[in-house]
Amino acid sequence: MYTVSKLEDYSPAALDQAAHELLQAVRQEATAIAGENDWRVFRDRWMARKNGILTQVNDLWLKAAPGTAKREVGARVNQLKTEVEKAVGVAQHRTSSTAASSRLESERLDITLPGIRRPLGAEHPVIRTMTEIVDVFRRMGYSVADGPEIETDYYNFEALSFPPNHPARDTQDTLFVAGQEKKPQRDRLLLRTHTSPVQIRTMLNQPPPVRAVIPGKVHRADTADATHSPIFHQVEGLAVDTNITFCDLKGTLDHAMKSLFGSNVKTRFFPSFFPFTEPSADVSITCFKCGGKGCRLCKMSGWIELLGCGMVDPNVFKFVEQNGYDSQKISGFAFGMGVERITMLKYGIDDIQLFYQGDVRFLEQFA
Ligand code: DAH
Repeated sequence: MYTVSKLEDYSPAALDQAAHELLQAVRQEATAIAGENDWRVFRDRWMARKNGILTQVNDLWLKAAPGTAKREVGARVNQLKTEVEKAVGVAQHRTSSTAASSRLESERLDITLPGIRRPLGAEHPVIRTMTEIVDVFRRMGYSVADGPEIETDYYNFEALSFPPNHPARDTQDTLFVAGQEKKPQRDRLLLRTHTSPVQIRTMLNQPPPVRAVIPGKVHRADTADATHSPIFHQVEGLAVDTNITFCDLKGTLDHAMKSLFGSNVKTRFFPSFFPFTEPSADVSITCFKCGGKGCRLCKMSGWIELLGCGMVDPNVFKFVEQNGYDSQKISGFAFGMGVERITMLKYGIDDIQLFYQGDVRFLEQFA
């Protein structure tokens, strides 16, 4: 460790030597400074007014110098002072900039690293099919309507011309809201068993003409198995105008089925019965798997039953007559289809429960 010693003689050579040793020491100590604390110790050691090295130099070299050497020694000491101050200044700059750079180091962001991938979800296959069905009808000019899942008996059954105590209420396996027994039957709340009540709500909302599709969730007290679920989805359709005929119904549904299953499929309308349509029909399409030859999918019949439809029963129009629905002047057709069933057929899914189990291995196949 460098210490200041008295000068033996004041010759230029001796002064040079002493100055050289001092400067060497200050520079060497400066290189060993690691942080701000080191630097403060360094600064005080060299520059403290009381007993700092420069002060000692002043005392031991300058003050002690004989009169003849004072001038020369004074100039040297001043020079050393400047050099030492410079070394302390440079050291300070270096420590504060290494502190700053280590702060930067800890905050460094490597923008070339791969980002954090957040896996994107995908549309559920049932919703995808539902949207697809709705889009087919939107392209034909239909608007989209909706209605409540908790319905009254009136909209779900009565206004659709289900007679009171008609067994259809049981065959639909209705889930009723508890504690409604005191109300008149028509006001009792239930979970809608089909989207057909929205036909009534739509007609109450707007006078004819109507062209609307109604996608939505429906509920039945069914026990879950491979083809049944207590909650599933339907898309309902309703078209009312002057001169709507069964021919319009056939053409519309034939076009829709070709859009959904491919232009090769043919449609066939079987007589059927629904309380709110007359005549009523069940629609089948040619089996898109075997092309109508007969296979396991179509149970060897060549046909797959897909939906119910019919001409709106004049009795139904009676419930909305006050809004311009005079069955003497207008007519209409309606249809309803199960979205899960159509999805299962489209993708070859054999168990409806797969839609509700939330198993990503199943769902990601549709992503
Ligand atoms: N609501 C019927 C059901 O859930 C389906 C249906 C059949 C809807 C015929 C209609 C229709 O609009 O005209 O089984």
